[in-house]
Amino acid sequence: MKKIKCLVTAGPTREHIDPVRFISNPSEGKMGWHIARAAEKLGWETELVLGPSQLPDPENVKTTRITSAKEMLDACRAKFDSCDILIMSAAVSDMRPKVAMPHKVKKGDINFTLEFEPTEDILKTLSLEKRNQILVGFAAETQNLEEYAKKKLQEKNLDCIAANLVNSKNSGFASDRNKLLLITREGKTLDLGEDTKENLAKKLVKILGENFL
Ligand code: CTP
Repeated sequence: MKKIKCLVTAGPTREHIDPVRFISNPSEGKMGWHIARAAEKLGWETELVLGPSQLPDPENVKTTRITSAKEMLDACRAKFDSCDILIMSAAVSDMRPKVAMPHKVKKGDINFTLEFEPTEDILKTLSLEKRNQILVGFAAETQNLEEYAKKKLQEKNLDCIAANLVNSKNSGFASDRNKLLLITREGKTLDLGEDTKENLAKKLVKILGENFL
């Protein structure tokens, strides 16, 4: 039987202001890292596109390390055509400075206003290029979890979305635990409960395999 090809993204992206300063978020890449590992253990041929993270390459997972949202888009695009499922768990930075300074801004010159522009929406861009791939998004919310997640599912034309609150003690950024609610395109919701990211990743990949592939 042909192996399922799975592409996972994880970690934050960094959008540089100058070579030593950047805009980012507190993600450490754990959720996506565990998803890549769980997918590989399930026998899927798995690739990981990983933003800046202290985590090592997961065993038997081809890992591409990137820094910015644009680099993540380029890396995903190069692999998207041949994958069966994309699981986009990266916490992509939504904004970048309009102009990145080529050299470190000296302390004495820090008296300017930064202008921002939105970064590429990777999922939305790839959803327009999709053929048969299953697209799985994540929704990082601090309120109205289900409502906002359903909106993202539609706007990004996803097959399902895993919603999590990122402002509570036992879930979200940098924690070893998370609490996930999975919502499908048909409007079905499945509460995966609160658990370690490792266990949630196993549950999620199993459900995706049984229901979508
Ligand atoms: N995402 C993406 N490209 C971006 C931002 C987000 O592909 N520039 C993906 C994330 O990886 C995630 C999903 O889109 O799978 C939702 O990300 P999230 O940060 O929750 O929402 P945003 O689309 O950024 O919207 P908002 O910031 O308004 O909540």
